[in-house]
Amino acid sequence: YGTKARLLWSGYLRRDPVARLQLEPGRLDPYPLYEQIRSRGRVSRTPFGHFVTVDHEICNEVLRSRDFGVGEDARDKSLSLLDLNPPDHTRLRRLVAPDFSVRTIGRYTPRIEAVLQNLIKDVPRDDPFDLVSVVAAPLPIAVIADLLGIPDADADEFARHGTEFGSALGGIQSLAHAQRLAATRKRLAEIFAGIFELRRKEPTDDVVSRIVNSDGTVRPEEMVPLCTLLLIAGFETTVNLIGNTVLALLSNPDQWRMLVEQPELAERAIEEGLRYDSPVQRTGRLATADTEVAGVPFKQGDWIMTAIGGANRDPAVFTDPARYDLHRDNAEDHLSFSGGVHYCLGAALARLEAGIALRTIVTEFPELALAGPRERRPGSLIRGMQHFPVRAPRSA
Ligand code: HEM
Repeated sequence: YGTKARLLWSGYLRRDPVARLQLEPGRLDPYPLYEQIRSRGRVSRTPFGHFVTVDHEICNEVLRSRDFGVGEDARDKSLSLLDLNPPDHTRLRRLVAPDFSVRTIGRYTPRIEAVLQNLIKDVPRDDPFDLVSVVAAPLPIAVIADLLGIPDADADEFARHGTEFGSALGGIQSLAHAQRLAATRKRLAEIFAGIFELRRKEPTDDVVSRIVNSDGTVRPEEMVPLCTLLLIAGFETTVNLIGNTVLALLSNPDQWRMLVEQPELAERAIEEGLRYDSPVQRTGRLATADTEVAGVPFKQGDWIMTAIGGANRDPAVFTDPARYDLHRDNAEDHLSFSGGVHYCLGAALARLEAGIALRTIVTEFPELALAGPRERRPGSLIRGMQHFPVRAPRSA
């Protein structure tokens, strides 16, 4: 009986769109699965006893609601802000928010342009190259290392650890992976300890100095997790925003040509890239009180998956949602940076980096072309390419 039940259950799971979303089909192409989930209603139950929604209005409502929060008890708070609810969340977020405002981040424009020029000069003309490892991945790493005031000497090591740590966002793949992560976490803490020491003695006008000299606003045990989050949050996301948008454009040559002719549309192209193929496909919230969503009763402790990637293709909000359209007039209504108190702290930085990157790519390589099969990254939570071969023939 046990075996039969298990077989029935696994057969059921294999067909269920929410289960498939988290497995290989979701990794390769989640979009048909979102449509299956949408056809079941605005909020539905998953086979795991949770709730799920791909409805834009409801995702937005849940992410902003005071009746929902993140599961503080379920996790080890290693991701700081992301794993905290108010008032602890508010206390930390207020301290670091000014360092990530549009205005403060704007000061990094020349630095971002310089990093890009440096990366671009290594691009081979005519031979295929990997857009991810040559341009899209190194850029956010260089910028955040700069922003956190990490000395050049440590930057490479930081980059390796950040990438390793960030890989956990897609799910832990094996015991060996978990062990590597533990070692990485330890090493990052050691490196940060050195930087904290330096910034206590000689504070500068940077976010780490503010964190270590905050007169108790940040507790000692909160410092490493907060800095680690700032370090890794942009590693595995911005790279995919650049990659996914370039892929969308090259797959729609009329849109690519439009951008070649008007590179000043790069920011719009990035905004539509965020909507069309979100680097973070889903998040979730726990009901902190008995409540109701779209007429469905929730008990305190019930969990709902807010599938951002599906909400971004909600036909009630976006006309012809499966089309990449540079001139869409409401692309910025996407939920790719989430919403409510956990709205992405790095949104201005991600937009600036990706916008400049795309403008540089399209002006330097107007004849850019796909060059062979792409490899998607493991896991289905973060959507993007591991390897993205392209070719940049010399323009006439
Ligand atoms: C939070 C997406 C880049 C820092 C988030 C969340 C999403 C997100 C969806 C909220 C998750 C939730 O609600 O559960 C993205 C995307 C990016 C990006 C798509 C790039 C395309 C960055 C960058 C930084 C950053 C460059 C730089 C520091 C953060 C932080 C949080 C966060 C600190 C936590 C905010 C909080 O809990 O208050 N991001 N992110 N992100 N992001 Fe980003």
